[in-house]
Amino acid sequence: MAHVRKAVIPAAGLGTRFLPATKSIPKEMLPIVDQPAIQYVIDEAVGAGIEDILIITAPSKKSLEDHFDRDFELESLLASRGKDDLLASVLEIPAKAKMYFTRQGQPLGLGHAIGMAASWVGNEPFAVLLPDDILVDGGDLLRRMIQVQVETDAVVLAAGHYPLEEVISYGVIDPLGIEDGIIDVGRIVEKPPIEEATSNYGLAPGRYVFPASIFDAIAQTAPGVGGEIQITDAIAAMIERTGVRACLNEGRRYDAGQKLDYLRATVELALEHPELGADFRKLLATIVAEQGIT
Ligand code: G1P
Repeated sequence: MAHVRKAVIPAAGLGTRFLPATKSIPKEMLPIVDQPAIQYVIDEAVGAGIEDILIITAPSKKSLEDHFDRDFELESLLASRGKDDLLASVLEIPAKAKMYFTRQGQPLGLGHAIGMAASWVGNEPFAVLLPDDILVDGGDLLRRMIQVQVETDAVVLAAGHYPLEEVISYGVIDPLGIEDGIIDVGRIVEKPPIEEATSNYGLAPGRYVFPASIFDAIAQTAPGVGGEIQITDAIAAMIERTGVRACLNEGRRYDAGQKLDYLRATVELALEHPELGADFRKLLATIVAEQGIT
């Protein structure tokens, strides 16, 4: 069976919702327990069989590149001090996938950012993962999406069912039909006004599997909502060309771009942490009792 090997991660956004924390630290590098947020996204992609990853970044985000690079000074220091576990954890990061970086140059929108990957991707299907969404599903959703893409050659999106007040902050899709958790998409609109939202199905988590023909659609897409080149508008053009499907996400999703959900991710993932989990559970119980939380 054909197989999707490449993924693009658009990470050029400034992370203004987390200022001042993100003044000099990319939001993707903020830790969730003991890993930067982006590491969870890489683990998900690798879990779904992705081998090569291109991160679309910005000049202020050099630490993203450093995180995925080898650091000989740190490695030899850890080795000389016999810190084998820490050395292994540091060596593991660049070994997971082949990492590539390019800069968006101008903040012209998500469609524009993805379009920057055209020559790197070439003529094969590829995945896109928006790094604000943290899934911790070992790549299950993305693997299902890849399977649908390979079988149908369509554009494949991820979707969830959301209250109307929430769905309008996403791309909104109208289903023609739903079978086995897969939506046949009839219409797609980016962040419609509430009175124009015609369904509760929103494009979140931000996961996509595209045929290479999406790049022609992006090149023909004019600026849309917010004056930006929207990937949603390019996808709308693909409904007639390749068809568009959406896989319903059945697993957990954290929006690490929202402070409260970032905290939920931190607490839940700390509870599940193999070394910290048990002690953190006791700590949390103490805090809950002390604060009189019921
Ligand atoms: C982007 C997409 C939107 C999608 C969302 C998922 O919006 O344009 O269609 O639903 O990601 O998180 P953003 O959140 O970048 O504004």
